[in-house]
Amino acid sequence: MSEALAHLVGQSVADIDTPALVVDLDAMQRNLTRMAEFARKHNVRWRPHAKMHKSAALARLQIQAGAVGVCVQKTAEAQAMVDGGVHDVYISNEVIAPKKLARVAELAHRLDAQRGRMAIAVDSIEGINRLAQAMSDANARHGADARIDVFVEIDVGQGRCGVQPGPQALELAQAVAGHSALHFAGLQAYHGKAQHLRSPRERRDAIAVATDDVRFTRKLIEEQGIAVDLVTGAGTGAMVCEAASGMYGELQAGSFMFMDADYAANERDPAQPVFEHALFIKTQVISQSADHAVCDAGHKSHAIDSGMPRVLTQEAGNELDYFNGGDEHGILRPSVSGGRIPTIGRMMWLIPGHCDPTVNLHDFMIGVTGGLREGVVERIIRVDARGALT
Ligand SMILES: Cc1ncc(COP(=O)(O)O)c(C=O)c1O
Repeated sequence: MSEALAHLVGQSVADIDTPALVVDLDAMQRNLTRMAEFARKHNVRWRPHAKMHKSAALARLQIQAGAVGVCVQKTAEAQAMVDGGVHDVYISNEVIAPKKLARVAELAHRLDAQRGRMAIAVDSIEGINRLAQAMSDANARHGADARIDVFVEIDVGQGRCGVQPGPQALELAQAVAGHSALHFAGLQAYHGKAQHLRSPRERRDAIAVATDDVRFTRKLIEEQGIAVDLVTGAGTGAMVCEAASGMYGELQAGSFMFMDADYAANERDPAQPVFEHALFIKTQVISQSADHAVCDAGHKSHAIDSGMPRVLTQEAGNELDYFNGGDEHGILRPSVSGGRIPTIGRMMWLIPGHCDPTVNLHDFMIGVTGGLREGVVERIIRVDARGALT
């Protein structure tokens, strides 16, 4: 734990200096419980995306709550998770550089020795051959036959990684099955764009198409005698659709645990659990003028790729809007004319637009219980994989 922050544990929320990244641990725990209940009810596994919180301690908490393991996007994130005691890690992304693949293979060995599991996504023959080479080199180095689970990624509408559903995916599944150190574990079918479609109907329509793609591809592969044990995908926005599809066996949603302002702008599907905001920037008003106030949190404190943060309303009828004031400042204006301007020294809470890149801006998260008004600091959570981009 950071020496500079250790003294905060047990102190009041009021003692947290600004700007600071604060987790409402009670809200986070409720989100976790709701997710676990949802997955149980729908008989699907959940493997939350740890690129969101980047913390091994929070990953372990998720596993305690029933998650089968975590997803990560980068090899360095996987290393941070394994170093932090997480035994089941899936890189839901393509890794191509041989040096990185050597690190992936080492992780597969470490987890194999712990009876854990390492998995990765592929979308090319080149990628499969490189992975197989890295695994075979590592097996020779260790004198042991570790295997890695491999998911063939299909593009179900995002237009990012993944081969087209159908014969191309079959070709890759056959290539994976042809390497002894690789185990074909199934399909990855993540539709990132669908997660942020605002209406439940649009999300349902998009995932219905994705599900058809999965069904067709799965049948094609199984007809060739290769079992498709699992289809993995889904994010916070549309996960109710993937869960109800009968095709997806594992949900990768990550943001549900912190819930950012962008996801809160989705119209909630009635089937979706109610997820609460649990991640905040505590900030303080440092300047006031006739028509606005200025707070000490700019875009070095929170990411703005998905829009400006929302200001948590402390007084009904006196809402404030946040405007970009640069990297170290935020401009606060009343949402309606005649509204009160917050005074110098006033503490405010911002709900970040996008939780993942916001977390990545901080070394530590300050976990509080008992609410943002009267609560106390319970723990300091290290962002283990901060900046883990390689
Ligand atoms: C492959 C993959 N799976 C799952 C997720 C998790 O989505 P979310 O954090 O929006 O729930 C993401 C997020 O970008 C992703 O890229």
